[in-house]
Order: sequence, then C-alpha cells, then structure tokens
Amino acid sequence: MSDAHLTRPARPPAGPAAPPTHLAPPPVPLMDPRRVYDAWGAAAEGAVLDVLRGHTYVRGPQVAALEAEFAARVGVSEAVAVDSGTDALILLLREVFEAAPPERREVIVPAFTFVATASAVVHAGGRPVFADVHPDTQNLDAASVRDRLTPATAAVIPVHLYGAPADMQALERVLPPGPQRPVVIEDAAQAVDACVEDRQAGALARAGAFSFYPSKNLGAAGDGGMVTTSDPALAQALRALRDHGQGARRYEHPRVGTNSRMDELQAAVLRAKLPHLGAWTEARRAVAARYVEAFAGTRVVPQRVLPGHASAWHLFTVRVPDREPLVRRLADGGIACGIYYPIPLNRQACFEAYEPDPCPVAERLAGEVLSLPCFPGLTGPEQDRVIEAVLSVPGLA
Ligand SMILES: Cc1ncc(COP(=O)(O)O)c(C=O)c1O
Repeated sequence: MSDAHLTRPARPPAGPAAPPTHLAPPPVPLMDPRRVYDAWGAAAEGAVLDVLRGHTYVRGPQVAALEAEFAARVGVSEAVAVDSGTDALILLLREVFEAAPPERREVIVPAFTFVATASAVVHAGGRPVFADVHPDTQNLDAASVRDRLTPATAAVIPVHLYGAPADMQALERVLPPGPQRPVVIEDAAQAVDACVEDRQAGALARAGAFSFYPSKNLGAAGDGGMVTTSDPALAQALRALRDHGQGARRYEHPRVGTNSRMDELQAAVLRAKLPHLGAWTEARRAVAARYVEAFAGTRVVPQRVLPGHASAWHLFTVRVPDREPLVRRLADGGIACGIYYPIPLNRQACFEAYEPDPCPVAERLAGEVLSLPCFPGLTGPEQDRVIEAVLSVPGLA
C-alpha cells in the first residue's frame, strides 16, 4: 500500500523564519511503528543476527516455526508463508483455477479495496468482476455479489476492509449450492487478529490471504504474506507453487511454479513481533472505541462493525458529507490523515478492459472516507487533539 495518498500536516511557507510567538504542538502521525519498537526490537535484532550467523536464509526453521505459530493463532491447521499478500492471493487463485473448468475464470471482488485484490485475479489468469459494497460497513455487499454471479464465477474474494470482517454469512447465503458454488477466499491482508465470535479472520472460508507489508498491524521489515487454510492438500499445492512447482523430488517439477518464498530474516522479525500482536490489537480497539464514542450523534460516521464481529482496526475510517474542510482543518492542526481509497477499482484505468459495471456506493465512498490516526502508542492527548479538530469543523459536530 503506497503512502502517496497520505495527507501530511501543512508545511510552513518558505522564507525568513519569524521568531516563534508560540510553540506548535508536534504533529500527530497517521501511524508510527517507532512507538512500539522497544517491545520487540531487541528480540528481533538478536534473531536476525542468529539468522545471519547461521547462514540459512531460505527454506529454514524460522519460516517453519512462523507457519506453525501463525496457524495456531488463526485457528487453522495450515499456514503457508509467501513473499507478499499479493502472492498469497495469486497462488490461491491459481489453485482455484487449476481445479475449475477453463470457462470458469471470473472472480468477484469488491470495487472498494486496495488494487492488489483485483490485480491478483489478472495475474492468476482470471477476469475480475467488481461488486459494490455496503455504505455502512464499506465491505462487500452480498446483494451486489448475487447480481454479478454467472456460471463462469470461480471464486469470490471478500475483503475485511480496514480490519473489519466482511459479512461472510450474508455472502454464503447468496452463493449457489453444489458444484457451481464459487470458492470463497478471504482477503485478510488488513485483518490479522480480527474475528467473528470466536473465529479469526483467515479461518472463515476455504482460505485466507494475509499481508505483512511494513505498515500492516503485523508488519515485516520488508514484504511478506501468508495463506491460511485447513485443507492440507491445498497447503501442499501452495508449498510447491511458491517454490518453482517442485514435486516430491528435488529438480522434479510437475507444475510451473514461481519463487514466492518468505525468507528467514522476515520470518525471524515476524516471530519477534507476534507475541505482542494481541496487546497491539487491544490498544487499537481502545483508540477506536474512544473515537466511536466521541463521534456518536455527529455527522462523522465511523465504519460500522457488525454485531459479533471484532475489528482489528488496521485503519479507523469515517465518512463525512464534505471531506475537504476536514482535510484542511487536520492539516492546519498538524494531524495526518489518509484516504483509502480515492478511486474505486471499477474506475481504475488498469481494469477498463474488463468493462466493470457501475458501483455507485464505492464511487460515493471514495469521495467521503477519511482515516484518522489509530495505532498502538497514540497518546490520550494526541487523540484529544484529533477529536477536537474533527468536531471543530463547521457542520460536523
Ligand atoms: C486489501 C489488501 N489486499 C492485498 C494487499 C496486498 O498485500 P501486499 O502489499 O503484501 O502484496 C494489500 C496490501 O496493502 C491490501 O491492503
């Protein structure tokens, strides 16, 4: 996820510096990984050094241990580490297509998500079909999925956007039974630690795809991803695909694979962070709960989390009727914010050839959403400043 769209606090105009009349408070970032480094940094530094001195950089014990620990946390029997969330989706879709007749290559994805959800479909050899989202949850709208289903639909990818689980039950209800039933793959890239009742994201469908991009709730020191599933045959196929399609014997390749292995250094870093993830998620939940309370009854509408669902609050996102004055007010107050996502995927030039249907809700949301600072280590006074700035915009309180 590129940071190019982030709105940063306004810079002072260039020119001779005037003597300060008052000291401006320090900027409030949208996210700040430095604030939790003390919790895991020393362990990671030690583990990285061990990997360097051990000289096993790929196919080693760190990746195997991370897979076991991650599977246990998500509550599935298998986790397959790969080198990005995008590759997790691509390899999963390749398996879906391998098992489907060649005329079934459509994959329904939400129009309101990061581009990788849909570009993975193209890379795997499929055709992305864009469904609309629900205005309150900003997640896939089951009714829109029902409208897009055809005999060519091989899979549906609900995204747990901003860390909030999509409505999987509503989705299951609109899918046809029997052999025509599309495979459901969770895009849980933003949703590590999110859950529905006592089941974690990544354990809610046939398989889940996670991203460890550095800004994610569980971020690597580079790129990384994971597939979760309780289907051992699927996991075995993915392990082969990520390693050049190698079969049981070395240099025997029954299928064309790729190189999508996670390396030992990334696994070591992720293992040092994993024990702290629960506390970080709780910290995000506390920040989010305070925002929800502060904005209740105002025209600032937070993403709706469904009953029984717990968001991982990768991003705390609100909708406002007129975004520009709020963006300006935050910038003036030294508060960073982000817009995820300013262009819905059905309007992206790269998918024009697939002739997407209109997705009016996604198109509206692209002009209304705004993400506020929400991360472990955000202080109470910083959050006070954010809330005060938001509610000081005329017409919002
Ligand atoms: C919803 C979603 N899907 C897929 C991805 C792709 O993950 P990665 O950047 O690890 O390839 C991301 C990453 O930002 C994402 O947010």
